[in-house]
Amino acid sequence: MKEPVRIAITGAAGQISYSLIFRIAAGDLLGPKQPVILHLLEIPQAMDALEGVVMEVNDCAFPLVRDIVATDDPNVAFKDIDYGLLVGSRPRGPGMERKDLLEANAEIFSVQGKALNDNAKRDVKVLVVGNPANTNALIAAENAPDIPSGQITAMVRLDHNRAKSQLAQKLGKHANDVKTVIVWGNHSSTQFPDLSHCKVDDKPALDQVDQDWYENDFIPTVQQRGAAIIKARGASSAASAASAAIDHMRDWALGTEGYVVSMAVPSDGSYGIEPGIMYGYPVTCDGGKYKIVEGLEIDDFSRSRMKATEDELREEREAVKHLFGK
Ligand code: NAD
Ligand code: LMR
Repeated sequence: MKEPVRIAITGAAGQISYSLIFRIAAGDLLGPKQPVILHLLEIPQAMDALEGVVMEVNDCAFPLVRDIVATDDPNVAFKDIDYGLLVGSRPRGPGMERKDLLEANAEIFSVQGKALNDNAKRDVKVLVVGNPANTNALIAAENAPDIPSGQITAMVRLDHNRAKSQLAQKLGKHANDVKTVIVWGNHSSTQFPDLSHCKVDDKPALDQVDQDWYENDFIPTVQQRGAAIIKARGASSAASAASAAIDHMRDWALGTEGYVVSMAVPSDGSYGIEPGIMYGYPVTCDGGKYKIVEGLEIDDFSRSRMKATEDELREEREAVKHLFGK
């Protein structure tokens, strides 16, 4: 058995965490040979509920769980962590856009960025799930100047998985047959789920569906899927969000073996996107590092969609600049 790694999960008494914690504890993130110490963060008012979650984790007698730290102090929660899953924040309700949460949640991520900076291991891998995820991740990164750039990322993997599933269902295939879906930009209704590089059964996806379905059905369905789930469930997606968070972190840590996945990472200017914003890109992962896939041809339709979601992220950045550390 290896030495245990420390994994922080914020919003640990919330709905996403109620799935996420148990799957991580079962080994779904880092495999069946990697023991874990769970660092669970909540706000003071939710500490009783968190205690209930801790009781349940203990009752599972998970072979991989070596210890649990349950706290309402981000400095304790992030002490020496190897991985951080930043889930804790308010979800939207019906009729809201995710960016309506900007003000409510932004403060959380400036505080937590500082706490990461002061306490986490320098090679910590951080995923922001709490919405608006891309800009919250940017706020955290701007408040964590001593954590190397690129170690704080945001989640577009749920959108990536949704896109795979929608296309597979349309073609009567399995999601495993779908390769190189890309979700560019923001985890919001401006995101661009791009099929122009996608293959299904090794043949171009766009030769197998018509352009009208792609533009007027597939793209809006993926963009609006979060809202559709809120309408159907009366609460935002939880188990699927937890599953996507595990996919994002597992692939980053253990590698994608050449497969392309989507991660929101600080733009390095690739594809002409404004440097610095947290933008969904196609990446491959190897040796604990991700790499943006370069050199893809971008047609005019894709370019305009990529620009629309970039513009939204620039606006969000402007709105929260006052929270960036000096
Ligand atoms: P929830 O309300 O069930 O749980 C959120 C938890 O966070 C609560 O227990 C709350 O007490 C806690 N919390 C609030 N402020 C905190 C703080 N400062 N520190 C620690 N914990 C704090 O919500 P949920 O359904 O679990 O969703 C959490 C977030 O994830 C929401 O913002 C939601 O919109 C977002 N989300 C993102 C994606 C994505 O794809 N990126 C998908 C689904 C949900
Ligand atoms: C989702 O995509 O399901 C989440 O971001 C929740 C939401 O507000 O849509």
